[in-house]
Amino acid sequence: MGLVSAKEMLQKAKAGHYAVGQFNINNLEWTKAILEVAQEKKSPVILGVSEGAGKYMGGYKTVVGMVNGLIDELNITVPVALHLDHGSYEACYKCIKAGFSSVMFDGSHLPFDENLAKTTELVHVTSQLGLSLEAEVGSIGGEEDGVIGQGECADPMECKTIADLGVSMLAAGIGNIHGKYPENWAGLSFETLDAIQAQTGDMPLVLHGGTGIPADQVKKAISLGVAKVNVNTECQLGFQAEVRKYIEAGKDLEGKGFDPRKLLAPGVAGIKAVVVEKMELFGSVGKAE
Ligand code: 13P
Repeated sequence: MGLVSAKEMLQKAKAGHYAVGQFNINNLEWTKAILEVAQEKKSPVILGVSEGAGKYMGGYKTVVGMVNGLIDELNITVPVALHLDHGSYEACYKCIKAGFSSVMFDGSHLPFDENLAKTTELVHVTSQLGLSLEAEVGSIGGEEDGVIGQGECADPMECKTIADLGVSMLAAGIGNIHGKYPENWAGLSFETLDAIQAQTGDMPLVLHGGTGIPADQVKKAISLGVAKVNVNTECQLGFQAEVRKYIEAGKDLEGKGFDPRKLLAPGVAGIKAVVVEKMELFGSVGKAE
């Protein structure tokens, strides 16, 4: 199966009270690790690409070529969506042209009317092409490609206005932030999530900043309408911890331990362990059978 839109998999997840993970990719190792786990666990999956990561990997066309090649050569049969994460208006069009199956237009930092107008236009474009579109209301804290947000809570009425445009999924700030959570983090605002879900009905909601949210809070968020959870930093930390151990144990100095295929293998295992744990927590295991 080639790339698919995320719309159907998320509608199924919302109806089935589980969530599909969006795991951000950085290179070949990340992409292969995530696809292999998804196939092994029979789970649908969304590969997230930030603008920065897209540039790092040599551009969106390179990413599309790599992902399509892996799906084919590794015989990946579970549904896979390739999704632009926190895209600007321009990046959305570039990714659509390059062959992504899903894009996020993040207009949360724009005046609401401008977010509304640009999201409206992108709803028309993506729906005509059979692609999925994620919109965002209320900025998510932490750092998103150099932009620091405060982790504000979205206005449920603004969420309804954007959801009614016909986007495929909606990211709404509920006190979540990207990266590691600070010690004094207040936790997710379930009151806000409940109010958003009441206004947006069947709309699959997206929880960004999946790294470090306690499992009970993730489960509660899913029970209140979250159908997609984004994870990035935790895979990076899993990779880093294992590569660090390998080097600290001096294994890169033994025999051909310097070969990148050997040096990066523990890191790949680290990414895989995180992805397995998250798919189990989100309840997506076995949903692609
Ligand atoms: P984390 O890096 O906190 O897991 O957030 C990922 C994310 O939300 C990507 O959009």
